[in-house]
Amino acid sequence: MSAENKTSRISGFYKLGVKKRMNKVKKFAELSDEEVGILQEKGISLKEAGRMIENVIGKIQIPLGIATNFLINDKDYLIPMATEEPSVVAAASNAARMIREGGGFKASSDEPIMIGQIQLIAKKPEEAKEKILANKEKILSLANEQDFVLVDLGGGAKDLEVRILNNGMLIIHLLVDVRDAMGANVVNTMCEHVSPLIEEVTRGKVYLRILSNLATKRMARAEVSISADALGGSKTVDSIILAYEFADADPYRAVTHNKGVMNGISAVALATGNDTRAVEAGIHAYASLEGRYRPVSHWSKDDKGNLTGRIEIPLAVGTFGGATMNPVARAAMKILGVKTAQELAEVMASVGLAQNLAAIRALSTEGIQKGHMSLHAMNIAAMAGAEGEQINKIAEILINENNIKVSRAKELLEAKK
Ligand code: MEV
Repeated sequence: MSAENKTSRISGFYKLGVKKRMNKVKKFAELSDEEVGILQEKGISLKEAGRMIENVIGKIQIPLGIATNFLINDKDYLIPMATEEPSVVAAASNAARMIREGGGFKASSDEPIMIGQIQLIAKKPEEAKEKILANKEKILSLANEQDFVLVDLGGGAKDLEVRILNNGMLIIHLLVDVRDAMGANVVNTMCEHVSPLIEEVTRGKVYLRILSNLATKRMARAEVSISADALGGSKTVDSIILAYEFADADPYRAVTHNKGVMNGISAVALATGNDTRAVEAGIHAYASLEGRYRPVSHWSKDDKGNLTGRIEIPLAVGTFGGATMNPVARAAMKILGVKTAQELAEVMASVGLAQNLAAIRALSTEGIQKGHMSLHAMNIAAMAGAEGEQINKIAEILINENNIKVSRAKELLEAKK
């Protein structure tokens, strides 16, 4: 498929069977038969699983879906999402369809700088701070001895900052450009490696040496503008803004609002082999950095009545290293077609914003249960014994009759015999 006719706008993708869907994705991402096999049948082997964690006895499977319609910085993306939750993939695709009508997502991100923390206890914190700053270049070059490959790629330890906490502890922040890795390994290694030198120059004692998951130097942003018409009218725009204002005023709502954002972000993180807990921890901490827990997305109306939305979040994700190298994650990454960790973060911020829009649009209008019903009805039809095309037909009748019960599905199946 040539670049110019490569579009993620695939109408009716959800109506296709799995085989036809995969064919479209295969063409779009130029997947090999082997990669298709890995995604659909093979997954990771027990041997590979045993190299990833300890005490392996098996594997657990999560559905991998594709969200369509994403246009981010004028590039089309098919988004692999690993999630057990119904409606998430459909909601993201639906929001992305509305957003592309307004020109798509404009996304950006910072250089991939991670913060490594070194905890130092010293008798005279101010003096120790001066000593560390005076030896900054020495500490940085010692850190960089740990990873010449990273340095050759333009990354490595770039700077350090020293904080004195209220309790008198000295916390050194080693700022490391990790390029396309998530960065935990290299940052932790560097922090451990430079600690003896820090102890020597300060005569203090180092305790913890570990990266911070609050990656505020590694922010990703996305913004969108959508016409009132594309959303279903100006009343819908107003109710979406009310939903946002609710979340901004109340942490009980803000956390659910942000959970909706994370439905998108974590699903892409999981599909691409990234550390979902690191991403979640960072984003929730960022949401409360101002002293109270707030939504990570913002919605308002411009002077033409369009809905405008933006999101800004720390995103420590990689395209290289760790679990991103497992064969399923590699195939998912190929579908996504991102070249760098920064591009991946921009895509994830966009997916989070789309997911949030879909949720608050549904919640502030028809409610979210309706959307959940079609998958629910299909499950009920299958439980009653329906197979193949029968499942869709029975599910449709159950929904129309507003009677989604196994007993009714069984009656319908009997009547068709
Ligand atoms: C459910 O997984 C996510 C929502 O609760 C998000 C929200 O309330 O905004 C629907």
